[in-house]
Amino acid sequence: MKRPIGVFDSGIGGITVLDSLIDVLPNEDFIYVGDTLNCPYGVKTPAEIEQLVTNVTKYLLSQNVKAIVIACNTATANSKHLKSITNIPIIGVIEPTARKALEVTKNNKITVLATQATVNSKAYYNLLTQNNAQVHQLGCPEFVELVESGEITSEKSYAVVDQVLESLKGKDFDTVILGCTHFKLLTNQVKNVFKSCEVVNSGMPTALELYSILQKENLLETSNTPGKVIINTTKDANKMKQIISSWFKKEYDGVYEIVI
Ligand code: DGL
Repeated sequence: MKRPIGVFDSGIGGITVLDSLIDVLPNEDFIYVGDTLNCPYGVKTPAEIEQLVTNVTKYLLSQNVKAIVIACNTATANSKHLKSITNIPIIGVIEPTARKALEVTKNNKITVLATQATVNSKAYYNLLTQNNAQVHQLGCPEFVELVESGEITSEKSYAVVDQVLESLKGKDFDTVILGCTHFKLLTNQVKNVFKSCEVVNSGMPTALELYSILQKENLLETSNTPGKVIINTTKDANKMKQIISSWFKKEYDGVYEIVI
């Protein structure tokens, strides 16, 4: 069905999810919104986050999207109210990511690295403990700052990640959830600290979830031509374009600044 899929995050983190969505659904059109003007979401109250999530969702609905992927854990944890705004499928990142972690863990001990708002929501904690996992959670707001400022390969990024994760060293979990979509860009830094752990991110689990929901709802695009990808930001399109250029290699129409 020739209608775009909306995807959003507080900034550039969700583009790591968009990357996987395009891998799995190359013929779909995507409209991405990074709400950079209001980034970070992770230090805001649930009421503030809900309002921002509503604003972005209404913008995407005005673009006639057939489904929305909330490519942000913090937004997903504060999105239950969206059911009263729209009937189209809304796919969050938390459930698919938690399921993946439960699949890969061998000792059922899982650490969740996320924003403080996601940690406080207990969204991961509840899902994982209901499935008998033992869970550590850690809020890592410093990681969002690193990624939004383009520090994804620097020595500083390794040092900051190492230091923030200090309190978890020596614990015997075998799986780490990158419970913030920005953190996928710091995978090497996290693996450098937890060398023997499986590191799970939201990209592929969410893309597979989207695929199966579109299929079930008969909403899959049937043409064989590559879809169109539009990236929007609520602040500084040039900066976003420059920061994603080193790692986002998919074809896209452009980065546009929008007011929502
Ligand atoms: N990328 C967002 C997430 O997955 C969080 C970043 C922020 O604090 O805005 O939770």
